[in-house]
Amino acid sequence: QADLKNTLLEINRLAANFFYYQLKQPSGKVGYDYFKEKRRLTDDTIRHFGLGYSSKVPDDLYRYMRSKGYSDDILKETGLFFIDERGARDKFWNRVMFPILDVNNRVIGFGGRVMGDGEPKYLNSPETKIFDKSRNLYGLNFARTSRAKYMLICEGYVDVIAMHQAGFTNAVASLGTAFTSQHAMLLKRYTDQVVLTYDSDGAGVKAALRAIPILKEVGMSIKVLNMKPYKDPDEFIKNLGKEEFQKRIDNAVGSFMFEISVIRSQYNMQDPESKTGFYNAIAKKLLEFPEKLERDNYTEAVAREYMIPETDLKNLVNSMGGLI
Ligand code: GTP
Ligand code: MN
Ligand code: MN
Ligand code: MN
Ligand code: MN
Repeated sequence: QADLKNTLLEINRLAANFFYYQLKQPSGKVGYDYFKEKRRLTDDTIRHFGLGYSSKVPDDLYRYMRSKGYSDDILKETGLFFIDERGARDKFWNRVMFPILDVNNRVIGFGGRVMGDGEPKYLNSPETKIFDKSRNLYGLNFARTSRAKYMLICEGYVDVIAMHQAGFTNAVASLGTAFTSQHAMLLKRYTDQVVLTYDSDGAGVKAALRAIPILKEVGMSIKVLNMKPYKDPDEFIKNLGKEEFQKRIDNAVGSFMFEISVIRSQYNMQDPESKTGFYNAIAKKLLEFPEKLERDNYTEAVAREYMIPETDLKNLVNSMGGLI
């Protein structure tokens, strides 16, 4: 089993080098131009992250691996090929490639993106004996040695890369899957503070709301960055630059105030019934603080932020059972 795992790691490493090499060939220019021009990544960044290109030849990676002496049985285990009685093909075809490294810099899998608008936009290695998506975070191999006190958690490969390129080398992403408690425990080895930089769209907000309780569970202090009017860290940095991004980090709000703002967006303050619903919803949310002092502090903060008379909100919270 240990032998198998080592062989899979060896094959993945060879594949990463193969994709990187292809990116630098004339036939890989389409991938190289995509990274340089479309994504504004530098040569240094491309090398640092080992980015690559999977060619339009349907089985060049497969034939390369066979020439290195690997059997079909072992190659099947890598998730990099489709192999059956009729023949073998590469899984990744005409995509820019993102090798996924674990914290020990071992290549455990790949993500591949179409360069245009095709579907699916990203294709990822399946889980294998060496690739467990819920236990690895993209970028953590670099972020773990960053000197920042906190980690930035985002959604995508390119977000991580764009942040690192801009000097935010403490950025990580979950691998196209939801953030899990294993991810939280993994991060907790390196830090107890995180700033969520998920996309500003509905899916990103939902992802943040789901990640918050999971991070709280391991005792993480959590802030949420406001990306608006941009969609994700990559686009934000491309448009407003790293100084503005740093300001957004400095101004990130605690996860509780973020949750309240999401609740706020679900109500219409022009409508008295809806407005009452909002007050009741935040009062209920404030009851999540079991200790009076903390609850009072947050009640004051919410009252100030949303211009609700403080005593009214306190009375409402107390009437709902907060009197201890
Ligand atoms: P860009 O368009 O390259 O900037 O990607 P993005 O990261 O902004 O895309 P998006 O916000 O749509 O997705 C965030 C992350 O979810 C990606 O980095 C992927 O890891 C994952 N993802 C997105 N699309 C797909 C898909 O079609 N299939 C799978 N398996 N994962 C996806
Ligand atoms: Mn190929
Ligand atoms: Mn998204
Ligand atoms: Mn993006
Ligand atoms: Mn995005």
